[in-house]
Amino acid sequence: MKRRTLIIGGTGTIGQSLIGLMQKGGEDFVVLARSESKAKPLRDSGLEVIIGELGNWPSIEKHLDGIDTIFLLTNPAPEQVALQNGLIDLAEVKSVRKIVKISALGAKVSSPIHLADWHGRIEEYLKASSLDYVILQPHSFMQNMLMSLPMIKQQSAFYQSLGDSKIPLVDTRDIAKASYQAIVTDDYNNSTYVITGGEPVSYDDMANALSKATGKNIKYIRIPVDAHRIGMKEAGVPSWLADDLANMNAALQKSAKHEASGDFELLTQARQVTIDDFAQDYADIFR
Ligand SMILES: NC(=O)c1ccc[n+]([C@@H]2O[C@H](COP(=O)([O-])OP(=O)(O)OC[C@H]3O[C@@H](n4cnc5c(N)ncnc54)[C@H](OP(=O)(O)O)[C@@H]3O)[C@@H](O)[C@H]2O)c1
Repeated sequence: MKRRTLIIGGTGTIGQSLIGLMQKGGEDFVVLARSESKAKPLRDSGLEVIIGELGNWPSIEKHLDGIDTIFLLTNPAPEQVALQNGLIDLAEVKSVRKIVKISALGAKVSSPIHLADWHGRIEEYLKASSLDYVILQPHSFMQNMLMSLPMIKQQSAFYQSLGDSKIPLVDTRDIAKASYQAIVTDDYNNSTYVITGGEPVSYDDMANALSKATGKNIKYIRIPVDAHRIGMKEAGVPSWLADDLANMNAALQKSAKHEASGDFELLTQARQVTIDDFAQDYADIFR
């Protein structure tokens, strides 16, 4: 079958970059949008869009004829296991051949981190299916800095609970590049890849990169993990997510070294986005 790809999550952060790469590469693909308002800008840029939502299975099923590969991403939420496993079931019935799934670093059934457990359950389900798969497990995104945007604009500071630890933060545009390769070749099928940035960096490094790019003096303010947990909950972050993010930071601080995996290079042979690139590209937003 000629490769025709359905992009699920194409209106999100990674998905939007992936769509650009698919267009540039002349790929035959269609994007799932959950509403007409989300579909319109995509259609206006010349893309083929279908309206549907995981969980509303008839809205998906009717569009799966002729789909060879699915890129699968939904936002982190308790229902993600039911949504993604349901899609895997439907894909098998409708003769889809392959799924490229965005998971997360540390995905593992029964992990005390909810997100890792949920992604782990989906990974296991996908591996046990009859489908070909590629699983990409990204490390923390550079773009998570956008969650601190109001604070950076108001106070030229952001609060985090990672101490002095260095982690290989990854730019979502690089995750899109790795996803593209996983879609357009079968060389990486039936394997799992850890997608990190090119080198471990601290939040002080990120603050320095943002300061240089914006011309402001942006500070990383270290807070204890429990203060971070309480602060996120008070700011309206769902309780399970605040716990997950705080517990992840605690775990990252405890383990000694977080090196780059090399899997991005393996898949793409491309140069990675650095924190300086990220800071330059987003400088107007953070200024
Ligand atoms: N942030 C991190 O540091 C990090 C690290 C590792 C892994 N991850 C993983 O990366 C993924 C998030 O990536 P992202 O930031 O690019 O996502 P995102 O911007 O939050 O976008 C989520 C996408 O999923 C779509 N979606 C949600 N529910 C859907 C449903 N029921 N049916 C169809 N589409 C649905 C959304 O559509 P709408 O536009 O309509 O909402 C949107 O396109 C999560 O799986 C997360 O666990 C994140």
